[in-house]
Amino acid sequence: MLKGKKILVGVTGGIAAYKTASLVRLLVKEGAEVKVIMTPRAKDFITPLTMSTLSNNPVLTLFYNTENGDWNNHIELSLWADVFLISPASANSLGKMANGIADNFLLTTYLAARCPVFVAPSMDENMLKHPAVIVNIETLRAYGNIILEPESGELASGLTGKGRMPEPEDIVKEIGDFFKKKKHP
Ligand SMILES: Cc1cc2nc3c(=O)[nH]c(=O)nc-3n(C[C@H](O)[C@H](O)[C@H](O)COP(=O)(O)O)c2cc1C
Repeated sequence: MLKGKKILVGVTGGIAAYKTASLVRLLVKEGAEVKVIMTPRAKDFITPLTMSTLSNNPVLTLFYNTENGDWNNHIELSLWADVFLISPASANSLGKMANGIADNFLLTTYLAARCPVFVAPSMDENMLKHPAVIVNIETLRAYGNIILEPESGELASGLTGKGRMPEPEDIVKEIGDFFKKKKHP
């Protein structure tokens, strides 16, 4: 379904980051070439080693390698991607994306991206309901980002409500449908 498609996956520091491991695995299984960028906080939730193993590519987090000064080219990476998928997208990163803040490698790549961007906001329901978060999501939608609606159900906080990252299978289907529509509008 995704043979030869280049998919850049951005992971932020949300509890749902563990689900993105399965998501990356499914994308690769569908034939996509996958590269993963993580925010520094995302590494508290899932390891770069897991993501690099599943994606078959090194994971990028920093602007440059502190050992040897080698720098990661966010412009090149953003041009490489057919699609950029940010999942889970934390309230913090959504706020920065909506306001043009670029203080980590993922955010810089996001601002440079010219490909379609899918964003999966994932957080506790009360966070999701905050007017500031609602405005940030609507701003991102208005900028042309494709928002993957958070699902309702049991949340990591132990509460039940809206805010769950969609299941990896559903996200893969959504991206597959997007490419199909692009081919046969
Ligand atoms: C256990 C735990 C779970 C968290 N889960 C979420 C979450 O699901 N969504 C969210 O927006 N923030 C969550 N946070 C807060 C973010 O990790 C925090 O705002 C962080 O600064 C996000 O950084 P980033 O956007 O640069 O990745 C959680 C924090 C902790 C300690």
